[in-house]
Amino acid sequence: MTGTLRFTIDDQVATILIDRPDKLNAMTPEMADALVVAVTECNTSDAIRCVIVTGAGDRAFCAGSDITTLDAYATAWDFRNRADYCDALRACRKPVIAAVNGYALGGGLETALACDIRIASATARFAAPEIKLGWIGGGGMAAGLAHSIGMSNAAMMLLTGDMIDAERALAWGLVSEVLAPDALLPRAQEIARTIASRAPIAAETAKLNLAAAFSMPHDKAIEYERDLQAICFATDDAREGRAAFAEKRVPIFRRR
Ligand code: COA
Repeated sequence: MTGTLRFTIDDQVATILIDRPDKLNAMTPEMADALVVAVTECNTSDAIRCVIVTGAGDRAFCAGSDITTLDAYATAWDFRNRADYCDALRACRKPVIAAVNGYALGGGLETALACDIRIASATARFAAPEIKLGWIGGGGMAAGLAHSIGMSNAAMMLLTGDMIDAERALAWGLVSEVLAPDALLPRAQEIARTIASRAPIAAETAKLNLAAAFSMPHDKAIEYERDLQAICFATDDAREGRAAFAEKRVPIFRRR
């Protein structure tokens, strides 16, 4: 079984490349393990302030779990308890951008949904095709879709399994921008460098806060936000931000 995940760091931006183009970047258990390792590195390295996830080649972001590996699970319970690559990405503390360069199907769509920002090439296609195979997604598909595109659109995708194109994904709010294929990665890098230039504790906290906004009751979410704001306000970086504003210079954030 070939296939790998390539992990590079450049100028505070880590890139996770799902690299198995001959199989449309379908994810094997080994690749899922490598993704967990890559996310752990992102979480622990101060040199990384933003992460990009994309696929190798020009056909696919990720066509989901490698279907041929699924027979290896002796029982549905073993399948239930497998390491889920989307859980790993969702647990990433640094902001993550999905640059969807082709098919994002099944677990590939869930991978994109586990990222904070999604942008897509005009050739991207999205689907939750598990229903055609006899099961449903298990990596956050329904929750991710319902939150990003609403119940009716989510139901359309979940119940038909049919693909939607990049324009429809944009109209439904599944992605933030659609670009020409050649412009996709440069744009992802531009967004990532912008995020990397912001105060890193504040960026990580903003991500945490956004997740809480979905899962907490409204009044609790606002209280929580105010606490997180106070924590950010107490950092050296916040003092630096105010000092730089007063001195009319670019702030130098040190993640302290
Ligand atoms: N798991 C394993 N292999 C996959 C795969 C997956 N999820 N998706 C694609 N592949 C493989 C194909 O088997 C094929 O391998 P082969 O060349 O050895 O035959 C190769 O990738 C290229 O795909 P192919 O099907 O020939 O391309 P296509 O353009 O005819 O069709 C798709 C593209 C995406 C429509 C089709 O590959 C597909 O339906 N894939 C499954 C998607 C899916 O159901 N994902 C959810 C999994 S839970």
